[in-house]
Amino acid sequence: MPIHIKRLVLTFAVFLGLFLILQQVLKPKSFGELGHYRFNSINENASKELHYAGSDKCSKCHETEQTEKTDGFHAQLKCEACHGPGLKHSLFADKFTEGSLPDSLKLIKPSERKDCALCHQKNAARIKILFDTIDNTMIRQVDVMKHKLLDKKTKVEMKCIECHNPHQP
Ligand code: HEC
Ligand code: HEC
Ligand code: HEC
Ligand code: HEC
Repeated sequence: MPIHIKRLVLTFAVFLGLFLILQQVLKPKSFGELGHYRFNSINENASKELHYAGSDKCSKCHETEQTEKTDGFHAQLKCEACHGPGLKHSLFADKFTEGSLPDSLKLIKPSERKDCALCHQKNAARIKILFDTIDNTMIRQVDVMKHKLLDKKTKVEMKCIECHNPHQP
């Protein structure tokens, strides 16, 4: 075998050896235990702290909002999509009298125009609703910078929720 081929083969052999050693050293212990994945990742995810309570929990104490929402266009939105993770709130809020909720248990109230824009801002890439059907898979878009921006009389910027009830828009 010519010398330059021998060198090439040797170089490949060295790299292959290095690769096999590194693979053994770096491979997580639980890899391959039950399949071609890191088995521990399931345990790690399962042991993460919970933050969300789920809408069923909310309706126990906030029947009014729940009922309003059920009949409206926002029926399919989860409470926590707007109010943020509420597990702690759900567990402890009833220990306090009205209006005395400590800050750590308070939830956000997304009442600014930008909060609604998150879903409703006109976006050329989104599918448009052409005919007036109740199809909750598509979101109606408005130009948040223009749509009913100012009060006709006072010319003051208006919040979306001054005209639309967020729980039944
Ligand atoms: C589209 C976003 C959105 C969703 C979904 C939503 N909310 Fe709200 N919620 C708001 C906004 C905005 C306010 C503040 C309204 C205001 O200040 O008048 C609010 C206010 C509230 C309040 C305070 C009412 C008060 O009188 O101060 C409660 C309680 C509440 N929401 C519970 C819920 C529950 C329970 C659900 C699920 C059934 C829910 N919300 C779903 C946006 C939302
Ligand atoms: C165990 C009863 C209970 C559960 C469950 C519960 N809440 Fe509340 N919530 C309260 C009480 C009590 C208040 C305080 C009322 C007050 O201060 O007037 C409150 C206030 C709120 C407010 C107004 C916050 C503020 O700063 O004024 C929002 C928004 C809210 N809850 C949303 C939710 C959502 C979303 C869920 C579900 C993840 C939920 N709540 C679950 C009892 C509960
Ligand atoms: C997480 C996404 C999301 C957020 C945030 C959100 N919406 Fe919606 N909204 C929807 C979906 C989904 C529908 C149902 C589909 C539709 O009719 O566009 C809807 C429907 C509506 C409609 C009914 C449109 C019609 O057909 O007449 C109005 C009005 C509306 N939302 C206003 C608001 C306002 C005001 C806010 C802010 C407080 C808000 N939305 C926040 C997702 C959202
Ligand atoms: C001054 C009152 C007023 C304010 C403020 C207002 N809206 Fe509206 N909105 C209306 C009325 C009335 C309609 C129905 C007639 C129309 O489309 O002009 C409507 C329609 C809508 C629709 C349905 C559009 C469609 O294609 O059917 C959406 C979505 C909406 N508004 C979201 C918002 C959002 C988001 C904000 C805040 C950025 C907002 N609105 C602020 C009065 C208001």
